[in-house]
Amino acid sequence: MQPGEFVSPVGPSGCGKSTLFNLVSGLLRPDDDRIEIDDVDVTGQSGHVGYMLQEDLLVPWRSVVDNVTLGAALTRGVTKADRAQAIDFARRYGLGDFLDHYPHALSGGMRQRIALMRTLATNHDLLLLDEPFGALDSQTRLEMQQ
Ligand SMILES: Nc1ncnc2c1ncn2[C@@H]1O[C@H](COP(=O)(O)OP(=O)(O)O)[C@@H](O)[C@H]1O
Ligand SMILES: [Mg+2]
Repeated sequence: MQPGEFVSPVGPSGCGKSTLFNLVSGLLRPDDDRIEIDDVDVTGQSGHVGYMLQEDLLVPWRSVVDNVTLGAALTRGVTKADRAQAIDFARRYGLGDFLDHYPHALSGGMRQRIALMRTLATNHDLLLLDEPFGALDSQTRLEMQQ
């Protein structure tokens, strides 16, 4: 893949799109054959891609900002720069007034945008987005696609 390139797997429900992402992200291990990223064998290894799963899987006891910085919290500790980036994303994606809100008080579309921000905040070169805009109304979806 080239920088800035989008590849969109398309197919009917149940055909294996999410399973493909689970394999590439290392959550699942293929029975045979292997997964390579940039010619490196990453079969069954996580941590090589940012992955936004089909369900938002937000942590209910963490605020918007703390959900966006979850990746850093779990790996190396949250820095000031991580928090600043999270606040920047939240403003950019329409959640600037909800920084300290918790997921239960937010709509499905807002939750989905937080999940996207959390994936962007991993700062991985390769992002897997599983139906990332499915819970958004058509107007917000157009804005997010831009
Ligand atoms: N954990 C699992 N164990 C067994 N079968 C599964 C599991 N997850 C999904 N499947 C099956 O794999 C197929 C592909 O599922 P999935 O990748 O979620 O499809 P899609 O994302 O394209 O809708 C479906 O037939 C589904 O029932
Ligand atoms: Mg799916």
